[in-house]
Formats: sequence, C-alpha cells, structure tokens
Amino acid sequence: METLHIRTAREDDLPTLHDLARRTLMLDSFSPELLAEKLFKKPRPREFVWETYLAESRGRPAGMMQAGARPAAGKAWLGLFAVDADLRRRGIASALFQRAKEDWPAGIEEVEVLAIPGNFFTPGLDPRYTEALCFLERLGFERFKDCVNLTAELSEQFDTSEEEQRIAADDIKVRRAHPADDRLLDEFFAEHFGDDWRFEAGLAMDNDPPTLHLALKNDRIIAFSAHSTQNREWGFFGPMGTAPEARGKGVGRVLLWHCLNDMRAAGHHTAVIPWVGPIAFYSQWARCRVKRVFWRYRLRLSVPRGTKRV
Ligand SMILES: CC(C)(COP(=O)(O)OP(=O)(O)OC[C@H]1O[C@@H](n2cnc3c(N)ncnc32)[C@H](O)[C@@H]1OP(=O)(O)O)[C@@H](O)C(=O)NCCC(=O)NCCS
Repeated sequence: METLHIRTAREDDLPTLHDLARRTLMLDSFSPELLAEKLFKKPRPREFVWETYLAESRGRPAGMMQAGARPAAGKAWLGLFAVDADLRRRGIASALFQRAKEDWPAGIEEVEVLAIPGNFFTPGLDPRYTEALCFLERLGFERFKDCVNLTAELSEQFDTSEEEQRIAADDIKVRRAHPADDRLLDEFFAEHFGDDWRFEAGLAMDNDPPTLHLALKNDRIIAFSAHSTQNREWGFFGPMGTAPEARGKGVGRVLLWHCLNDMRAAGHHTAVIPWVGPIAFYSQWARCRVKRVFWRYRLRLSVPRGTKRV
C-alpha cells in the first residue's frame, strides 16, 4: 500500500468529509450540517471521547472513520466509516480501525457499530452496504440483533381531542414541556429511563418551542415523547417512553400524535421512527411501515488482565 497518513479530522475538514461520505454512502442523503452533528457534536463531553479519523493517501482524502468511547461503561462505538471506491481492499479501513483502538482509553471491552446513544446516523448497519458487512465480519464483529426504521406519512393531522378527553377522565393531562419542567424530568428519568434518555429529552428542550410532549398525573410525569433531537432534516422522532404503571391506557398514542403533528407543521411530509422496537404500536396508531432494516454488530475485545476501567 502506498504511504497512508492517518490524522484526526477537524471541523474545517467538513467539506472534504462531506464529499467523501456523499460519494461512498450511497444509500443515504444528508447535508453538511447533519454530518457535522454526527462527527463533531460532542454529546456528552464528560463521558464520551470522540474522534473522526481521516486517512490521506498521496495527499488526497482516502477514507474516514468516526470512533467514540465511553470508558466508564467499557464500551466503544464505530460511527460512520467509508473508503473511496478506487482505494478499497488495501487495508485503509482496517488501518483506521487500528488507529481508533490505539487511541481508546484502557478497559474497552466491547465495540458496537453505528448505534451511538444520542447521536446516531443509523441504529446499525444497513446490510445493503455489503462491503461493510464483509469488512466487519472479517474483523470478527458478530451480528447480534436487528432493528428497523419505520416511516410515517404526515399527509393528515392527527386529531388527539377524543383520546385526550378519555384519558383526562383518569386525571391524565397531556401538554408540551416547558423550561420549568426540568426538576420533574430529572425525577422521571432517574426513576424510569436513565441518563441517556434524560440527555435526549434535554436536546428536545433546547428547541424552541421544546419538541417534547408530556403526560402528567398528580403533577408527576408518567410518559414522554420527543422529536427533532437530532437528524432534524429527516423528520426524526424519538425517544418516547411510558412508565410501566401507566402503560395500556392510550397515553403513548396521544404523545406520538402530538410529535407527528409538530413535524407536519414544520413542513415534513414523512417522519422517521428510528431504532424500533414495538412495530405494531406504530403501525396501529400512525400507519407506519418498515422503511429500512439494520443489523447490529458488536465485537468483544480481550482486555489485558488487571486493566481497570477508568
Ligand atoms: C466498508 C469499507 C469502509 C471497507 O474499506 P476497505 O479499506 O476496503 O477495507 P479493508 O481493505 O481494510 O478490508 C479489510 C478486510 O475486510 C474484508 N473486506 C472488505 N471489503 C470486502 C469486500 N468487498 N468483499 C469481501 N471482503 C471484504 C476483507 O477480508 C478485507 O481484507 P482482504 O482485502 O485482505 O481480503 C468500504 O468498502 C466502503 O467504504 N464501503 C462503503 C461505505 C460503507 O458501507 N460504510 C458503512 C456504513 S457507515
């Protein structure tokens, strides 16, 4: 292989990275802004270490790979990766992966592909990226799960009034979140869905107006749904969740409809319901259909004896 130089990419490499990603990730369309969100947004500075590596061959960009690690969890992720078509099968992606591994802190036990909490492009590998599938399996990655993205048609507004009246009889109120809800959100996520979804709810709260809808009973949150926390140009739904004791009352569908109505009002014709999950729920209440299938891959790394997580 001709001399390959690998370095960490900077934000001013974005035009180069976008060109490279666009000519190689043929199944996806995305703006430079969306790519910048994936590669350079630092979603959890205290917990995650992120880098995008750029491989250059004879002064021209040849490949890229995003990699992130969450040392406290002993886990790392490969984000987007791509090598120019005429430079494939020369070990460039392998060299990028090797470099990412060398940079990770000690104690990483598992690497997952693309399903990065809070900042994912896709929730796994679309197997139609067949070369990537071959590459990952050659490196020892194992497919352990499937998931899908659904699509919702937004041609008509969802009427929530009847269902809202029905659940109001059970003292359940539905409304858009507002900044004063922070304490209630902290309590709810501490009890039910944890820090990652608390973080995503925070991203929804940063939008104006907040793209977060809540169901409350006795002044406590019992369910939530969010949208436009990332990948906004795709009309991106989620996450959503209902506390176990409040399930089966029809709260989730009302919250889903509010989010879809918001996205319709923002000009989207369709919405992506990513990383699903309960297909029947979305199919029944919003006539969603499977749009894409993803295979989730992971690789267990051997950690030297005595290596501690930091
Ligand atoms: C996947 C991709 C990054 C691999 O890049 P690469 O630089 O060609 O990979 P490497 O040369 O390091 O390949 C290492 C090994 O993986 C396997 N492999 C890679 N491509 C393969 C292919 N097309 N068919 C079979 N095996 C393949 C081989 O075992 C290869 O070793 P070998 O050539 O000595 O047999 C490249 O094909 C690509 O950019 N694809 C399009 C983008 C994409 O699908 N990205 C994933 C979604 S984000």
